[in-house]
Amino acid sequence: MPSHHKKLIIANWKMAPNTLAEAGQILDSVDEYLGSLNEKEISLVFCPSFVFLEEVGKILKTSHLEHQASLGAQDIFWEDAGADTGEVSGPMLNKLGVKYVIIGHSERRWKLGESDEVVNKKLKAVLRNEMVPIVCVGERVRNDNFKEFLKEQVEKTFAGLSQDDLGKCIIAYEPVWAISSNPDAHPDAPDSALESIGIIKKTLLANGHLLMANLYLYGGSVTSKNVTDFIQQQEIDGVLVGGASVNKEEFVKILSLIK
Ligand code: 13P
Repeated sequence: MPSHHKKLIIANWKMAPNTLAEAGQILDSVDEYLGSLNEKEISLVFCPSFVFLEEVGKILKTSHLEHQASLGAQDIFWEDAGADTGEVSGPMLNKLGVKYVIIGHSERRWKLGESDEVVNKKLKAVLRNEMVPIVCVGERVRNDNFKEFLKEQVEKTFAGLSQDDLGKCIIAYEPVWAISSNPDAHPDAPDSALESIGIIKKTLLANGHLLMANLYLYGGSVTSKNVTDFIQQQEIDGVLVGGASVNKEEFVKILSLIK
Protein backbone atom coordinates (compact mmCIF):
# COMPACT_ATOMS: atom_id res chain seq x y z
CA MET A 1 0.00 0.00 0.00
CA PRO A 2 1.36 3.46 -0.73
CA SER A 3 1.98 5.56 2.34
CA HIS A 4 -0.59 8.30 2.87
CA HIS A 5 1.51 11.37 2.31
CA LYS A 6 2.43 10.25 -1.19
CA LYS A 7 0.05 11.10 -3.97
CA LEU A 8 -1.09 8.07 -5.96
CA ILE A 9 -1.05 8.35 -9.74
CA ILE A 10 -2.86 5.60 -11.60
CA ALA A 11 -2.37 5.19 -15.34
CA ASN A 12 -5.42 3.56 -16.87
CA TRP A 13 -4.17 2.73 -20.34
CA LYS A 14 -7.60 1.45 -21.40
CA MET A 15 -7.34 -0.22 -24.87
CA ALA A 16 -3.96 1.36 -25.69
CA PRO A 17 -1.19 1.32 -26.77
CA ASN A 18 -1.36 -1.15 -29.63
CA THR A 19 2.03 -2.73 -29.10
CA LEU A 20 4.24 -3.82 -26.24
CA ALA A 21 7.07 -1.79 -27.78
CA GLU A 22 5.05 1.40 -27.30
CA ALA A 23 4.16 0.38 -23.76
CA GLY A 24 7.88 -0.11 -23.11
CA GLN A 25 8.62 3.40 -24.39
CA ILE A 26 6.14 4.96 -21.98
CA LEU A 27 7.68 3.02 -19.09
CA ASP A 28 11.22 3.96 -20.18
CA SER A 29 10.29 7.64 -20.13
CA VAL A 30 8.78 7.35 -16.67
CA ASP A 31 11.79 5.39 -15.42
CA GLU A 32 14.15 8.04 -16.71
CA TYR A 33 12.12 10.74 -14.98
CA LEU A 34 12.05 8.81 -11.69
CA GLY A 35 15.82 8.39 -11.93
CA SER A 36 16.22 12.16 -12.05
CA LEU A 37 14.42 12.70 -8.71
CA ASN A 38 15.89 12.79 -5.23
CA GLU A 39 12.72 12.96 -3.20
CA LYS A 40 10.13 10.49 -4.39
CA GLU A 41 6.73 11.73 -3.40
CA ILE A 42 4.66 9.70 -5.83
CA SER A 43 3.38 6.17 -6.04
CA LEU A 44 2.45 4.88 -9.46
CA VAL A 45 0.17 2.14 -10.69
CA PHE A 46 0.14 1.08 -14.35
CA CYS A 47 -2.98 -0.68 -15.59
CA PRO A 48 -2.27 -2.10 -19.05
CA SER A 49 -4.50 -4.27 -21.16
CA PHE A 50 -4.59 -7.94 -20.11
CA VAL A 51 -2.39 -8.92 -23.06
CA PHE A 52 0.51 -6.79 -21.78
CA LEU A 53 0.12 -7.48 -18.07
CA GLU A 54 2.82 -10.09 -17.77
CA GLU A 55 5.47 -8.18 -19.73
CA VAL A 56 4.67 -4.83 -18.13
CA GLY A 57 4.89 -6.58 -14.75
CA LYS A 58 8.44 -7.66 -15.61
CA ILE A 59 9.45 -4.13 -16.65
CA LEU A 60 8.02 -2.71 -13.42
CA LYS A 61 10.39 -4.93 -11.46
CA THR A 62 13.42 -3.16 -12.96
CA SER A 63 15.39 0.04 -12.41
CA HIS A 64 13.68 3.04 -10.70
CA LEU A 65 10.21 1.72 -11.40
CA GLU A 66 10.77 -1.14 -9.00
CA HIS A 67 10.30 0.90 -5.82
CA GLN A 68 7.62 3.25 -7.04
CA ALA A 69 5.35 1.52 -9.49
CA SER A 70 2.90 -1.35 -9.12
CA LEU A 71 0.94 -3.42 -11.58
CA GLY A 72 -2.82 -3.02 -11.93
CA ALA A 73 -5.48 -4.71 -14.06
CA GLN A 74 -8.47 -3.04 -15.70
CA ASP A 75 -11.02 -5.71 -14.87
CA ILE A 76 -11.58 -9.12 -13.23
CA PHE A 77 -14.21 -11.85 -13.36
CA TRP A 78 -16.29 -12.34 -10.21
CA GLU A 79 -15.71 -16.08 -9.91
CA ASP A 80 -12.34 -17.62 -9.14
CA ALA A 81 -12.73 -20.61 -11.45
CA GLY A 82 -15.17 -22.02 -13.96
CA ALA A 83 -16.06 -22.29 -17.63
CA ASP A 84 -16.20 -18.57 -18.46
CA THR A 85 -15.05 -17.88 -21.99
CA GLY A 86 -13.09 -14.68 -22.37
CA GLU A 87 -12.85 -13.91 -18.67
CA VAL A 88 -9.80 -13.51 -16.41
CA SER A 89 -9.89 -14.67 -12.80
CA GLY A 90 -8.60 -13.20 -9.55
CA PRO A 91 -6.17 -16.08 -8.92
CA MET A 92 -4.69 -15.59 -12.42
CA LEU A 93 -4.14 -11.88 -11.76
CA ASN A 94 -2.76 -12.39 -8.29
CA LYS A 95 -0.27 -14.98 -9.52
CA LEU A 96 0.93 -12.53 -12.19
CA GLY A 97 1.84 -10.02 -9.50
CA VAL A 98 -1.15 -7.72 -9.99
CA LYS A 99 -1.66 -5.57 -6.87
CA TYR A 100 -4.57 -3.33 -7.92
CA VAL A 101 -7.71 -3.91 -10.00
CA ILE A 102 -9.97 -1.23 -11.48
CA ILE A 103 -13.62 -2.05 -10.87
CA GLY A 104 -16.76 -0.37 -12.14
CA HIS A 105 -15.15 1.89 -14.68
CA SER A 106 -17.83 3.95 -16.39
CA GLU A 107 -16.81 2.61 -19.80
CA ARG A 108 -17.71 -0.85 -18.54
CA ARG A 109 -20.82 0.30 -16.72
CA TRP A 110 -22.21 2.27 -19.68
CA LYS A 111 -20.78 0.68 -22.82
CA LEU A 112 -20.91 -2.91 -21.63
CA GLY A 113 -23.91 -2.70 -19.35
CA GLU A 114 -22.20 -3.66 -16.07
CA SER A 115 -24.70 -3.18 -13.27
CA ASP A 116 -23.93 -2.13 -9.71
CA GLU A 117 -24.57 -5.77 -8.72
CA VAL A 118 -21.90 -7.02 -11.13
CA VAL A 119 -19.46 -4.39 -9.91
CA ASN A 120 -20.20 -5.44 -6.32
CA LYS A 121 -19.41 -9.09 -7.13
CA LYS A 122 -16.17 -8.08 -8.86
CA LEU A 123 -15.22 -5.90 -5.90
CA LYS A 124 -15.60 -8.90 -3.59
CA ALA A 125 -13.51 -11.03 -5.99
CA VAL A 126 -10.66 -8.50 -5.85
CA LEU A 127 -10.70 -8.47 -2.05
CA ARG A 128 -10.98 -12.27 -1.82
CA ASN A 129 -7.88 -12.54 -3.98
CA GLU A 130 -5.95 -10.09 -1.81
CA MET A 131 -5.57 -7.27 -4.29
CA VAL A 132 -6.59 -3.63 -3.85
CA PRO A 133 -9.80 -2.56 -5.60
CA ILE A 134 -9.84 0.82 -7.34
CA VAL A 135 -13.58 1.34 -7.36
CA CYS A 136 -14.88 3.88 -9.87
CA VAL A 137 -18.09 5.76 -9.20
CA GLY A 138 -19.54 8.87 -10.74
CA GLU A 139 -22.67 10.35 -12.20
CA ARG A 140 -23.39 10.33 -15.91
CA VAL A 141 -24.79 13.85 -15.94
CA ARG A 142 -24.61 16.49 -13.26
CA ASN A 143 -28.30 17.30 -13.21
CA ASP A 144 -30.75 17.90 -10.35
CA ASN A 145 -30.70 14.21 -9.49
CA PHE A 146 -26.98 13.65 -9.43
CA LYS A 147 -26.71 13.42 -5.63
CA GLU A 148 -29.39 10.73 -5.47
CA PHE A 149 -27.79 8.89 -8.36
CA LEU A 150 -24.37 8.90 -6.72
CA LYS A 151 -25.79 7.85 -3.36
CA GLU A 152 -27.60 4.87 -4.87
CA GLN A 153 -24.59 3.85 -6.96
CA VAL A 154 -22.33 3.96 -3.90
CA GLU A 155 -24.81 2.01 -1.75
CA LYS A 156 -25.21 -0.77 -4.32
CA THR A 157 -21.56 -0.90 -5.35
CA PHE A 158 -20.35 -1.33 -1.74
CA ALA A 159 -23.27 -3.45 -0.49
CA GLY A 160 -22.33 -6.11 2.05
CA LEU A 161 -18.74 -4.99 2.55
CA SER A 162 -17.27 -5.24 6.05
CA GLN A 163 -15.65 -2.16 7.55
CA ASP A 164 -12.28 -3.84 7.24
CA ASP A 165 -12.81 -4.45 3.55
CA LEU A 166 -14.01 -0.92 2.89
CA GLY A 167 -10.81 0.29 4.53
CA LYS A 168 -8.84 -1.56 1.83
CA CYS A 169 -10.61 0.16 -1.07
CA ILE A 170 -9.47 3.05 -3.18
CA ILE A 171 -12.44 5.04 -4.48
CA ALA A 172 -12.03 6.93 -7.74
CA TYR A 173 -14.62 9.59 -8.37
CA GLU A 174 -14.89 9.82 -12.14
CA PRO A 175 -17.81 11.87 -13.43
CA VAL A 176 -18.74 10.34 -16.78
CA TRP A 177 -19.28 13.77 -18.34
CA ALA A 178 -15.65 14.66 -17.62
CA ILE A 179 -13.99 11.63 -19.23
CA SER A 180 -12.09 12.57 -22.38
CA SER A 181 -13.55 9.72 -24.47
CA ASN A 182 -16.98 11.31 -24.09
CA PRO A 183 -17.58 13.58 -27.13
CA ASP A 184 -19.05 16.32 -24.91
CA ALA A 185 -16.40 16.00 -22.22
CA HIS A 186 -15.50 19.04 -20.20
CA PRO A 187 -13.04 18.78 -17.32
CA ASP A 188 -14.45 18.90 -13.83
CA ALA A 189 -13.52 21.64 -11.40
CA PRO A 190 -11.97 20.69 -8.04
CA ASP A 191 -14.91 22.17 -6.14
CA SER A 192 -17.48 19.86 -7.66
CA ALA A 193 -15.13 16.87 -7.30
CA LEU A 194 -14.80 17.71 -3.60
CA GLU A 195 -18.57 18.03 -3.27
CA SER A 196 -19.00 14.59 -4.82
CA ILE A 197 -16.32 13.01 -2.64
CA GLY A 198 -18.20 14.49 0.32
CA ILE A 199 -21.42 12.83 -0.86
CA ILE A 200 -19.64 9.48 -1.27
CA LYS A 201 -18.20 9.66 2.26
CA LYS A 202 -21.55 10.70 3.74
CA THR A 203 -23.29 7.81 2.00
CA LEU A 204 -20.79 5.30 3.36
CA LEU A 205 -21.18 6.75 6.85
CA ALA A 206 -24.96 6.65 6.63
CA ASN A 207 -24.71 2.99 5.72
CA GLY A 208 -22.91 2.19 8.93
CA HIS A 209 -19.35 2.41 7.72
CA LEU A 210 -17.36 4.22 10.34
CA LEU A 211 -14.09 3.46 8.65
CA MET A 212 -13.73 5.34 5.42
CA ALA A 213 -12.19 3.98 2.27
CA ASN A 214 -8.44 4.07 2.24
CA LEU A 215 -7.92 6.70 -0.46
CA TYR A 216 -10.00 8.97 -2.68
CA LEU A 217 -8.93 9.81 -6.23
CA TYR A 218 -10.24 12.01 -8.99
CA GLY A 219 -10.36 10.97 -12.66
CA GLY A 220 -11.69 12.59 -15.84
CA SER A 221 -9.66 14.59 -18.38
CA VAL A 222 -6.68 14.98 -16.05
CA THR A 223 -3.80 16.60 -17.95
CA SER A 224 -0.71 18.64 -17.15
CA LYS A 225 -2.95 21.71 -17.37
CA ASN A 226 -5.25 20.81 -14.48
CA VAL A 227 -3.55 18.10 -12.40
CA THR A 228 -2.24 20.57 -9.82
CA ASP A 229 -5.75 21.91 -9.17
CA PHE A 230 -6.87 18.47 -8.07
CA ILE A 231 -3.75 17.13 -6.44
CA GLN A 232 -3.30 20.14 -4.16
CA GLN A 233 -6.61 19.37 -2.46
CA GLN A 234 -6.08 17.64 0.85
CA GLU A 235 -9.15 15.44 0.30
CA ILE A 236 -7.86 14.16 -3.05
CA ASP A 237 -5.19 11.51 -2.58
CA GLY A 238 -4.32 11.09 -6.23
CA VAL A 239 -5.57 10.93 -9.80
CA LEU A 240 -6.67 8.29 -12.28
CA VAL A 241 -5.36 9.30 -15.69
CA GLY A 242 -6.68 7.86 -18.96
CA GLY A 243 -5.78 9.38 -22.33
CA ALA A 244 -2.87 11.45 -21.03
CA SER A 245 -1.21 8.37 -19.51
CA VAL A 246 -0.37 6.83 -22.89
CA ASN A 247 1.30 10.00 -24.15
CA LYS A 248 4.77 9.67 -22.66
CA GLU A 249 5.72 13.36 -22.79
CA GLU A 250 2.41 14.45 -21.31
CA PHE A 251 2.44 11.77 -18.61
CA VAL A 252 5.96 12.68 -17.48
CA LYS A 253 4.88 16.32 -17.44
CA ILE A 254 1.98 15.37 -15.16
CA LEU A 255 4.36 13.52 -12.84
CA SER A 256 6.71 16.48 -12.74
CA LEU A 257 3.86 18.63 -11.36
CA ILE A 258 3.15 16.34 -8.42
CA LYS A 259 4.74 17.75 -5.30
P1 13P B 1 -9.40 10.43 -19.42
O1 13P B 1 -8.24 10.86 -18.53
O2 13P B 1 -8.98 10.04 -20.81
O3 13P B 1 -10.51 11.42 -19.37
O4 13P B 1 -9.97 9.10 -18.77
C1 13P B 1 -10.29 9.11 -17.42
C2 13P B 1 -10.55 7.72 -17.02
O5 13P B 1 -11.54 7.15 -17.41
C3 13P B 1 -9.54 7.06 -16.18
O6 13P B 1 -10.01 5.85 -15.70
